Amino acid sequence: MLIENEALRNHWYVVAEVADVVGEPVAVTLLGQELVLWRSTDGSIVAAPDRCTHREAPLSAGTVHDGCVVCPYHGWKFGDGGQCVEIPSSGAGKKVPPAAHLPTVHVREQFGLVWLCLGEPAAEIPAMAAEDDEKYRRINSGVEVWNVSSTRMTDNFLDISHFPYVHIGTFGIAQNSDVPKIEMEQLDDDFFGYEYEVEVRNDGESGKEASGLSAEVVLRRMSTGFNLPFTVRSNIHYETGLDHLILLCSTPIDDVTSYFTFVVWRNDDFAVPGQEVIVFDRAIGAEDKVMLEKVKGVLPLDQRATVSVQSDKPSVEWRRRFAELIG
Ligand code: FES
Ligand SMILES: [Fe+2]
Repeated sequence: MLIENEALRNHWYVVAEVADVVGEPVAVTLLGQELVLWRSTDGSIVAAPDRCTHREAPLSAGTVHDGCVVCPYHGWKFGDGGQCVEIPSSGAGKKVPPAAHLPTVHVREQFGLVWLCLGEPAAEIPAMAAEDDEKYRRINSGVEVWNVSSTRMTDNFLDISHFPYVHIGTFGIAQNSDVPKIEMEQLDDDFFGYEYEVEVRNDGESGKEASGLSAEVVLRRMSTGFNLPFTVRSNIHYETGLDHLILLCSTPIDDVTSYFTFVVWRNDDFAVPGQEVIVFDRAIGAEDKVMLEKVKGVLPLDQRATVSVQSDKPSVEWRRRFAELIG
């Protein structure tokens, strides 16, 4: 199984939004491991196996009191860094056995997202310069569960040739099925990908809201690249100077189920509410989801098992490097 691959444990994955981790404990699953998240007294989010060290009850079914997660079974309390701080049946002041503490995993809060690494981080979370640029605002979209392998999602997010078929309800133009020759390059320190221009349908209110333009067809200059294992970034640049940057994050829950979230950064005048700005992106994501949920299983990592053509160059390159990463 792909999720049992050791190398995958040493990377960062999005499992929730920061805004989701308030109040009650939150259950998430990463690479087949069930985990509980809560915000502890020192202000940081703790991530630990969702299994009490006492009799293995799911801590996510418990509550959070004063920064401690309280097990619903016998009331053991776990605080900062997963430390077991109270065993009610032992009475006050009794020593806690060292094995009672929860083993924790690495947590980072970045771009309004909660990122976890189960092993030891082999790489940083990719940088987004717009995050620290006051001309840009960030818009988060929420985390969804897709019944799709993260391998198929990443392959799709790097692919242009499905636009006229899958995205005909949003920005795709049926007659524009030719994909010009693609050259791959290092886009910056963190992303490897390609630049291209594409004419898109600028239909309806949400399309016009997203582009800030009123024409029926508009030219987008785009660059799309990947950061291993499953992060894809698309930069969309319009003639007006508007930049619309999208970070697409896929996280394996198991081999064939994933969390999906996207984050947008824009240098617009901030007039339109963020959630309206991303209505169009949401509709595009929903089109990909419908298509991908019809494709079963994991993407074969042996390139000979599927046929690729010129327009598949980006996803072929991603697959080659991904296969190398997991060994
Ligand atoms: S199982 Fe958690 S306190 Fe007993
Ligand atoms: Fe798509």
